[in-house]
Amino acid sequence: MSIILDGAKIAGEIRQSVRDEAADFKNKKGIVPGLAVVLVGEDPASQVYVGRKAKACAEAGFLSREYRLPAATLEGELLRLIDDLNKDILIHGILVQLPLPAHISTHKIIAAIDPMKDVDGFHPYNVGGLVSGSPVFIPCTPRGIMELISRTGIELAGKEAVVVGRSNIVGKPIALLLLERHATVTICHSRTKNLPQVTARADVLVAAVGRPHMITGGMVKKGAVVIDVGVNRLESGKLAGDVAFEEVCAKASYITPVPGGVGPMTIAMLMRNTLDAALQMVS
Ligand code: GUN
Repeated sequence: MSIILDGAKIAGEIRQSVRDEAADFKNKKGIVPGLAVVLVGEDPASQVYVGRKAKACAEAGFLSREYRLPAATLEGELLRLIDDLNKDILIHGILVQLPLPAHISTHKIIAAIDPMKDVDGFHPYNVGGLVSGSPVFIPCTPRGIMELISRTGIELAGKEAVVVGRSNIVGKPIALLLLERHATVTICHSRTKNLPQVTARADVLVAAVGRPHMITGGMVKKGAVVIDVGVNRLESGKLAGDVAFEEVCAKASYITPVPGGVGPMTIAMLMRNTLDAALQMVS
């Protein structure tokens, strides 16, 4: 039976320490960390995420600004808003919720954000820093996953890490972070042959695909650490991860639940990155 990695509890501890550090920073320097969150369109899941981010900011004692723009917003209008936020001295972090509507170039928008305010870590400058081992901002979900893995006490050097999914938001950055810690890393995706054979090698398995319950017990090595990044809404309305939780529990040493695993860690790390952005302004 596995030990459950309680992301909600660990995220709560991180948010508390960010809140304490932010209060101290305000007392000493008179600066309140500020985060601007931009949402274009009415995607229901994105609306929920953006609402959670604003709530976490309020709890951390941050300034939070939300910009909810209609789906028909022009790329030029969004670029002008980003330019204003780049210049705004009260704002230390800018997050544009993805996905954006198809008529807007995600690359162009991300590249327009001041890299020193890019708390998502998606700007090419920050991606370059991650690749070369000197990151400024680490993307929030991968940073949260690394924190969860560190709580298991597993030594990553020389271990087999398998990442299923190659997104810019999770798959690619988590693979780089695991590599930085000297794991032997394999990235799998929809064209990977013999996926179950590859995943069965993993000492650490990260599932970030977006397909409910696709990682089954037979695909997991006994004693593996299993991190489930999937958030899939079933027809019943229930949330399901990418991992078949009950079956995999019987094999894994540690496992994250959905909900209550990786999701809360993403928000905690966004708060951490926003505080870091504010601290960097004065250092
Ligand atoms: N959409 C899904 N995850 C994320 C994230 O971490 N950041 C942003 N900006 N959009 C997302």
